[in-house]
Amino acid sequence: MALASLVLVRRMEGFFHALFFLINLLYVMSAAWCTATAAAGIKEAASDRAALLSFKSLIDDDPFGALSSWNNGSLHYCRWRGVSCGRRHPDRVTALDLKSLRLAGSVSPSVANLTFIQRIELSDNKLDGSIPEELGSLRRLRYLNLSVNSLRGMIPSSLGNCSNLRLLNLRCNKLNGEIPPTLSRLSNLRELRLSWNTLQGTIPDSLGNLSSLLSLSLGNNSLSGAMPPSFGGLLSLKILEIQENSLTGTIPPSLTNLSALNVLALRRNKLHGEIPHFAELPFLSYLDCSYNYLSGTIPISLGQLSSLKYLILGMNNLTGEIPSSLYNLSSLKGLELIYNQLEGTLPSNIGNALPNLQVLRMYGNQLGGQIPASLSNASELCDLELSLNAFHGTIPQSLGALQSLLRLILTVNRLEARNPSDWSFIKALTNCTSLQVLALGHNQLQGTLPKSLVNLSTSLNVLVIANNQISGIIPTEIEKLINLTILAVNGNDLRGTVPIEISHLSQLQYLDLSNNMLSGEIPPTLGNLTRMDKLYLGNNEFEGAIPLTLSNLLMLELLDLSNNRLSGSIPKEVLTLSSLTIFLDLSHNLLNGSLPLEVGNLINIWGVNLSNNRLSGEIPDTIGKCVILENLYLENNLFQGSIPPSISNLRGLEELDLSKNFFSGQIPAFLDELPDLHYLNLSFNSFEGRVPMKGVFKNASEVSLIGNSKLCGGIPELHLLKCTSDAFATKHHSDYKLFCV
Ligand SMILES: *[C@@H]1O[C@H](CO)[C@@H](O)[C@H](O)[C@H]1NC(C)=O
Ligand SMILES: *[C@@H]1O[C@H](CO)[C@@H](O)[C@H](O)[C@H]1NC(C)=O
Ligand SMILES: *[C@@H]1O[C@H](CO)[C@@H](O)[C@H](O)[C@H]1NC(C)=O
Ligand SMILES: *[C@@H]1O[C@H](CO)[C@@H](O)[C@H](O)[C@H]1NC(C)=O
Ligand SMILES: *[C@@H]1O[C@H](CO)[C@@H](O)[C@H](O)[C@H]1NC(C)=O
Ligand SMILES: *[C@@H]1O[C@H](CO)[C@@H](O)[C@H](O)[C@H]1NC(C)=O
Ligand SMILES: *[C@@H]1O[C@H](CO)[C@@H](O)[C@H](O)[C@H]1NC(C)=O
Ligand SMILES: *[C@@H]1O[C@H](CO)[C@@H](O)[C@H](O)[C@H]1NC(C)=O
Ligand SMILES: *[C@@H]1O[C@H](CO)[C@@H](O)[C@H](O)[C@H]1NC(C)=O
Ligand SMILES: *[C@@H]1O[C@H](CO)[C@@H](O)[C@H](O)[C@H]1NC(C)=O
Repeated sequence: MALASLVLVRRMEGFFHALFFLINLLYVMSAAWCTATAAAGIKEAASDRAALLSFKSLIDDDPFGALSSWNNGSLHYCRWRGVSCGRRHPDRVTALDLKSLRLAGSVSPSVANLTFIQRIELSDNKLDGSIPEELGSLRRLRYLNLSVNSLRGMIPSSLGNCSNLRLLNLRCNKLNGEIPPTLSRLSNLRELRLSWNTLQGTIPDSLGNLSSLLSLSLGNNSLSGAMPPSFGGLLSLKILEIQENSLTGTIPPSLTNLSALNVLALRRNKLHGEIPHFAELPFLSYLDCSYNYLSGTIPISLGQLSSLKYLILGMNNLTGEIPSSLYNLSSLKGLELIYNQLEGTLPSNIGNALPNLQVLRMYGNQLGGQIPASLSNASELCDLELSLNAFHGTIPQSLGALQSLLRLILTVNRLEARNPSDWSFIKALTNCTSLQVLALGHNQLQGTLPKSLVNLSTSLNVLVIANNQISGIIPTEIEKLINLTILAVNGNDLRGTVPIEISHLSQLQYLDLSNNMLSGEIPPTLGNLTRMDKLYLGNNEFEGAIPLTLSNLLMLELLDLSNNRLSGSIPKEVLTLSSLTIFLDLSHNLLNGSLPLEVGNLINIWGVNLSNNRLSGEIPDTIGKCVILENLYLENNLFQGSIPPSISNLRGLEELDLSKNFFSGQIPAFLDELPDLHYLNLSFNSFEGRVPMKGVFKNASEVSLIGNSKLCGGIPELHLLKCTSDAFATKHHSDYKLFCV
């Protein structure tokens, strides 16, 4: 037993000895190997340090001092901020991570000397200059993220040599030129992101070789030509994003083979033809082909995309009915089919079929039928936009159950409210405490506004009930809708006065009360609504004076008070609003007095209509300061005097109507030099002398001169008397007058 043990121990010793020898040998061998590489390593290490310092030398701005540890001090460069070195090669830089540090400057080509580098992350800085071609020599590079910088120039084709690259992200730069076809050699590439640059040319067919690719985004560039059918070979692809380019041709049917696809975004290109029969793509959750020229019907097969959450096909030329198969897509959160030529109705059970729907946008089609009450069962619905269709019937009260509803836009349909109970949807909508937009304009809603209107959510920003047949008054409690920025009740049969309380809606920017039968004075307190930029009060029965307080509306771009019974003179204060850039319309009132000199303050205005009033005196010469003016209508007033010479400054003038006044003197020659003038009406005045022959006067259908008995000459089509030698005297006479004025 003891002997046996001894033998065993001996044997074990032998074994251990042998083992020890082996370990030693390995150690020696590896040491030898290490010393051999160490010699090379020291040299390479020195060059890694030099390469890093060279990188730093081209950074001109480092606001956070991120590279302050990068210097010749005692700290080893492997411990500099953002630098990592290898485990096996402890002196070799393997990663550079300097993300979001607002570094400005350019990327040094010497980064390519970091031959062991695997990862370069310099995204979200302010780097400019070009991508160094030398990076193409980095065979170990797996990750290159230079996104969100200001890099210019072309993508170096040498990058196709970085055969280990898994990620290449260059999105959000200013790169131009074409996509180098050499990128198709990056057979390990998983993600290729080149979106948000200014890349041009066609997409290389060979990118279809990148069979490991999971994500390809080329959106927001200027790429043209067709989408390569070879993309049908990217069988691992989950994301294909080429939106906002100028791709032409059809959507390749081969894409229907991309069975791993999650996202397909082809929005805003110039694609035409039909939508392919995407059917068995079990993971497709986002399909956006909107803003193209796609035609034909929506393929029934889309109903098989059981993971689809967003289907966005708006702004195409799609026709026919919405296939009922789409209502099998119970995961759908967003269905957007705006501006096509779709017909038919929405199924009455849509809300039960698509219970996860959040956004339903169908405006600008030819859909009819009723708005399905079941939409209330899509309890997350926040955006329901069905305007510009032919929906009829009443607005379902059930919509009031949609607690998340933000926008209900039903304008331009044939929706009805014939009796008070048809209006009960308003009371129901007071439940929707987040409602921001309620637009019901251009329908057939009749009767008085329900009192509960004022109990709608105080979040309401936009209330449009214009162009219906609504009668009654504007309720004073409208002031409760304190966040309204847009209020349009124009084109109804509203009567009574404008409640002063409307002036408490301090956020109001757009107020349209026009085309009603509102009466009384325009409340001066409207001048408190200092955010207002468009104010329409025309076509009512307002009387009294134009309130001076309107001159407090310093953001006002458009003021329409036309077709009322306003009297008194035009307040000079209102004409000081140089914010008026669009239109000032005071026409068809009973305004008298002269046109104040202050009209010259309207230096940004495009159109002025003061016609059909009782304005008198001369046109002030200051009118010549309104240099943007294109349309000036002063007809049917009591103006007199001659056309002021300063009108020659209005180089953009297109339409000028001075008819039915008491203007006199010669027709000034400069009118024939206004390049865009194409409507000139001087009829029924007392103009005299020779009619010019050039410019607007060349075309008898663009000038009207009748009822001026002392005019002569002009083109024959105007049928005026020939000028006699007296004309010369007349001319002198009027010149004399002009001079003395
Ligand atoms: C990078 O390597 C090249 C070629 O080996 C060399 O000429 C250059 O000086 C190196 N740059 C730096 C900063 O070390
Ligand atoms: C690349 O950089 C961008 C911008 O900083 C960042 O959003 C992204 O996550 C980074 N990584 C990848 C893999 O793209
Ligand atoms: C890459 O794609 C092109 C064009 O699609 C093809 O001609 C070529 O053979 C492919 N190369 C490889 C390596 O697959
Ligand atoms: C889809 O792929 C199959 C083979 O996987 C191929 O036969 C077929 O032509 C492809 N379809 C299209 C439309 O490219
Ligand atoms: C909502 O769904 C329930 C249960 O399926 C159904 O009974 C009800 O009629 C639906 N509501 C509407 C307004 O269609
Ligand atoms: C409004 O909300 C109340 C309480 O939350 C609820 O009882 C009522 O049914 C709701 N009305 C509508 C039309 O959904
Ligand atoms: C509006 O709400 C107030 C306070 O919640 C309530 O007293 C009033 O009866 C409501 N008015 C209508 C018409 O629903
Ligand atoms: C309008 O503003 C003036 C001064 O800011 C204030 O005294 C007045 O109460 C306001 N009127 C209304 C109706 O808001
Ligand atoms: C010119 O003005 C007169 C009177 O205002 C009007 O009757 C006529 O139709 C106008 N001419 C044209 C061409 O519009
Ligand atoms: C004359 O003016 C009319 C109306 O602006 C226009 O349609 C027509 O083309 C013009 N004729 C010529 C010869 O310019």
